Amino acid sequence: METPFKAVGKLVDIVNGMAKSRALYTVAQLNVANCIEPNGRMSSDQIAKQVHCDPSILYRLMRALSQVGVFRECEDDESGASHMFEHTEESIAMRNENFGNFVLATGLPTVFKTWELFPEVVTKSDLSTGSGNTISNKFFEELEQRQEEALVFGKGMTAITYKIAPLLVAQSDYSQFDTVVDVGGSEGILLSEILKVNKNIKLGINFDLPRLIEKFQTSMPERTAQLNARFKDVSGSFFESVPTGDCFILKSILHDWSDQCAKDILCTVVRSMKPSSKIYLYEFLVNNEKNEKQSPVVWMDIRMLNYNDGKERTLKEYQSLATECGLEVERVVSMEMLPSLIILVKATATTS
Ligand SMILES: C[S@@+](CC[C@H](N)C(=O)[O-])C[C@H]1O[C@@H](n2cnc3c(N)ncnc32)[C@H](O)[C@@H]1O
Repeated sequence: METPFKAVGKLVDIVNGMAKSRALYTVAQLNVANCIEPNGRMSSDQIAKQVHCDPSILYRLMRALSQVGVFRECEDDESGASHMFEHTEESIAMRNENFGNFVLATGLPTVFKTWELFPEVVTKSDLSTGSGNTISNKFFEELEQRQEEALVFGKGMTAITYKIAPLLVAQSDYSQFDTVVDVGGSEGILLSEILKVNKNIKLGINFDLPRLIEKFQTSMPERTAQLNARFKDVSGSFFESVPTGDCFILKSILHDWSDQCAKDILCTVVRSMKPSSKIYLYEFLVNNEKNEKQSPVVWMDIRMLNYNDGKERTLKEYQSLATECGLEVERVVSMEMLPSLIILVKATATTS
């Protein structure tokens, strides 16, 4: 049977995915979205001068991106000006203060390199040994060696978390806690929001890798100044130990890791828990039903597999990780379009 034309078109579109992604990354690097005022228009030739690249190439790049909704090419005006572009919602979102940092983070050399090895991750991993694969579980170690990239990656995470932090905090009860530890808190943007809203919290500890914490302290000095003595940075590794607290936040942490590593992280946290402490996991949940609604999560799952042998999980899978660390799920708060909040406590049988 001859392959239908539509099917070929769809496959070509998927193949073009990489070109689209690299084009988006390149305009983010060149800061093109910041050149056009939010309500303004500008020619790609003028932008090319500002960002120091060839005008005809930049025009082709912007023309292609406008086909997928990033920038809009305007009709030539009476003055004869051509190659004029204005913003769309998507290109506005590409401005630095918005989502641009996330796009930059996803295209970093360390990230891009992982894709080259992806077929090997699939063909050479043997997860049945329980030790995970060794091809793709060094992401954070490699990032630690490249400080500039680590900083961009942190800013990329902040770009996402910053947008959703108020929504997450509004639906999460922090009223019972004195000390909250954000484990792998990156720049501390979620913790800052939690402390602003929940004045009862006496101390918020932002915990992350040493070299990142060092960098963030200089990149975000206003953060600690605003929250005075209630915000503290602590550095270390969550495979070794974490500070003691009443509530431990792990947002987008366990999905970065294999089952074995995720268990190790949870067990480290358990060692610092008081009997009444809680763990607040914020993670997207894979839906067991085979429907189209979960498609962004299943693609994030592939990205996690590729970067660091990570994995998006079902609630049942989080439950079984928890059980193996002497924890149980107390409650799940589902939030539409957002990660779910999965509250873990020490399992009743092990609480004395
Ligand atoms: C995907 S980011 C999530 C950041 C933040 N929780 C958020 O959602 O915006 C994962 C974080 O884990 C941190 N991390 C990775 N390995 C770590 C380790 N061994 N100990 C502490 N933090 C680590 C990374 O530096 C990074 O900030």
